[in-house]
Amino acid sequence: MSNNNGFKFADNFLWGGATAANQFEGGWNKDGKGASTSDMMTGGTHTTPRRITPVLEEETYYPSREAIDFYGHYKEDIKLFGEMGFKTFRMSINWTRIFPNGDELEPNEEGLKFYDDVFDELIKNNIEPLVTISHYEAPFGLTEKYNGWCSRKVIDFYVTYCEAIFKRYKDKVKYWLTFNEINCLTVPFGAFMAGGILVNENENSDQKRFQALHHQFIASAKAVKLGHEINPDFKIGCMIAYMTTYPNSCNPDDILLAQQKDQISNMLCGDVQVRGYYPRFANRYFEEKGIEIQMQAGDNEILKEGCVDFYSFSYYMSSVVSADTNLEEVEGNILGGIKNPHLKASDWGWQIDPKGLRWTLNNIYDRYQIPLIVVENGLGAVDVVEADGSINDDYRIDYVRDHIIQMEEAVKDGVELMGYTMWGCIDLVSASTGEMKKRYGFIYVDKDNNGNGNMERSKKKSFYWYKNVIKSNGKEL
Ligand code: BG6
Repeated sequence: MSNNNGFKFADNFLWGGATAANQFEGGWNKDGKGASTSDMMTGGTHTTPRRITPVLEEETYYPSREAIDFYGHYKEDIKLFGEMGFKTFRMSINWTRIFPNGDELEPNEEGLKFYDDVFDELIKNNIEPLVTISHYEAPFGLTEKYNGWCSRKVIDFYVTYCEAIFKRYKDKVKYWLTFNEINCLTVPFGAFMAGGILVNENENSDQKRFQALHHQFIASAKAVKLGHEINPDFKIGCMIAYMTTYPNSCNPDDILLAQQKDQISNMLCGDVQVRGYYPRFANRYFEEKGIEIQMQAGDNEILKEGCVDFYSFSYYMSSVVSADTNLEEVEGNILGGIKNPHLKASDWGWQIDPKGLRWTLNNIYDRYQIPLIVVENGLGAVDVVEADGSINDDYRIDYVRDHIIQMEEAVKDGVELMGYTMWGCIDLVSASTGEMKKRYGFIYVDKDNNGNGNMERSKKKSFYWYKNVIKSNGKEL
C-alpha cells in the first residue's frame, strides 16, 4: 500500500526493532555471568502462569537461560537487522553479565567485552544502539540478600553498574533507557519481574512494590545525572508500559475510574521521571492503600536533578474499565479489563487498537512536550511454517501497518516522535508466559516451548515488508 498523502517522517526517524537480554540473549552462565531473576522463572502457557523458583530445580526447563542464543548468534542476527535497514536496535544489557551477583566492586571484563563486540557489530552495520539498562532482570543475588529493589542498598549497586557501562560504552552508545516499563511495579504482577521482589502467596505487596519503585526512581535519576556527566551527548529516557484505558460509558463513575487508572498506572511514573517530582494525586492513592514511602533527606533534589531527556513507551493494546463489576473481562498486557466490542483481539486475547496509539501519543505529548519514541509495539501470534519454509504473516504486517498509520496521524497532530522499534523483531521468549509459540518476529527462530529446535533463523513475509517500509521512510506501507 502506498501512502500518497504527502506525509513524511523525519529523515533521521529511528526505525528499528526491540529485544531484551532476558528474553533472547541466552548464555546464562557463560563467561562469568551470574543468575538473573529471569533465569529463575520457569516456562508457562497462556493459562498456566510461570513459576519463580527460589532455588534451581534440576529437572525444570527455564526458557530464558538459552533463549534464542543471541550470545552465540549475534553477528548473524545483526546482519539480518542490517539487511532490513534498521536505523536503531533496542537491546538490553544483562546486569549479571557485568556484575554477576550485583554487589561486586569490579565489573566482569568478559561481560563488558561481549557488549563491546555487539555494539561494534551494530555500528559496522550502521545501526544505532538503544540500550535498556535493566529490562525485567536483576542479579538474583540481590533478591537473595536484599529482596531486590525493596532495599535502598540496591540503588548504589545499580549506579555502580551504570557507571561501569556508561564509561565503557560512552563512545558507542548514545541512547539509554534506565528501566524497562518501570510502572510495572504499580501492579502485583510486577513484583518479581520488575523489582526482583519475592512475595508470599496472598501477601498484599503494595508497600513493598511502591517502596521499590521509589528506589528505582532515585536510581534512575542518579543514573541520568551521572550519564550526562560522563558524556553530555547522552540521551537518557524513561520507559513506561502505556496502559491506555477507556471508560466503558459516559457514566461519570466510569470516566473517573479511567482517569484514576491513567494517573496511577501511567502518569505517576512519567511525572516523576520527566518532571522530577511526585504528582499530587499520588498522596491520596498512597493514603488510601496504606502505603508509606520512606524517603531520605535529599531525595526530592535527586529526582529534580535527574529528569529524563525523552519519553519512551510500549503500546500493544488498550483496555476498558467500568464501575459495573458484572461485565465480561478480557486479558491484556500487564492489566486486563472489560471487553471492547469495537476491537478484535490477538491470539492471546490482547485487544488490538491502532487508533489508541494516536490517542496515547497525543495524551503523553500534551502532558510533557518532550520527544517520544515507541520502543515496543507488535503482535504475538502463532506462525505457521509452510512446506516450502515460507511464513506468511500477513496478520503481523496488518498490525504494524495500522499502528504506523496512526503514528503518522499523531505526528500530523503535532507530536514530536523520534522513532519506532517493533517489539520482538526476532522471535524470542514471551515475558508473560515464557512461551516461544507467542511469536513477534520479522525473523523466525526454530525453537519451541520446550526448547526443541535447531535455532535456525529464517525470514518471514513481514521481513521484506518492513525492509521496504524503512527504505521508503514509511511512505510505502
Ligand atoms: C512488554 C515487555 O510489556 O511486553 C516485554 O517490555 C514483553 O518484555 C512484551 O515481551 C510482550 O509481552 P509478552 O508477554 O507477550 O512477551
